[in-house]
Amino acid sequence: MPSPQLAQIYARSENRVIGANGRIPWRLPDDFAHFKRTTMGRPIIMGRKTYEDHESALPGRLNLVVTRDGSYQAAEGVEVVACLDQAMARAGEASDLAFIIGGVGLFEQTFDRVQTVYETVVHAEIKGEAVLPVFNFEGWQRNVLEEHPVDDRHAFAFTILRWDRSPVAHGGA
Ligand SMILES: NC(=O)c1ccc[n+]([C@@H]2O[C@H](COP(=O)([O-])OP(=O)(O)OC[C@H]3O[C@@H](n4cnc5c(N)ncnc54)[C@H](OP(=O)(O)O)[C@@H]3O)[C@@H](O)[C@H]2O)c1
Repeated sequence: MPSPQLAQIYARSENRVIGANGRIPWRLPDDFAHFKRTTMGRPIIMGRKTYEDHESALPGRLNLVVTRDGSYQAAEGVEVVACLDQAMARAGEASDLAFIIGGVGLFEQTFDRVQTVYETVVHAEIKGEAVLPVFNFEGWQRNVLEEHPVDDRHAFAFTILRWDRSPVAHGGA
């Protein structure tokens, strides 16, 4: 089975929170537009709790939900898989690139295999129970895609970064 290239995409606060009370703790339409633009047409792989934040298929993308609950039922257009390897195999049938879209456990479990990370840093300190560990981006290439100010639709400023693992950091020659 072909394995797709993997990327991660997330938004985190300065203190590394990505979720509070099972939800994303901010509403930033222009970051959501970036998420949609970046992932459109690609398989998206998510943990069961991330799926339950919206409980419907995100359109235009193969939606894969990972759970250990063998009887889990998801909405129409969402496929349930038992483990990450199964998610990767299914994603590889559909595309050569797939996105891990959360939550914390999935980001942790896949960091060593991703080539690219789209990281939005929300310039705020937020309270929440879903907290990302510090990933080691040493040797990765860092690009700033956008610096977004506070405006009437965005309560927080944010920076959208793209990190690419260099061949050397990946262990290549
Ligand atoms: N800011 C962002 O960019 C962003 C992105 C995504 C999510 N979020 C937020 O993050 C929170 C949810 O994230 P979370 O970390 O709490 O949970 P999560 O990772 O979305 O879901 C965890 C669940 O996924 C399943 N799972 C994880 N690894 C698995 C594996 N290897 N094999 C099989 N199943 C596996 C398990 O489901 P079962 O218990 O059913 O077995 C586990 O309990 C929400 O607040 C959400 O809004 C934020």
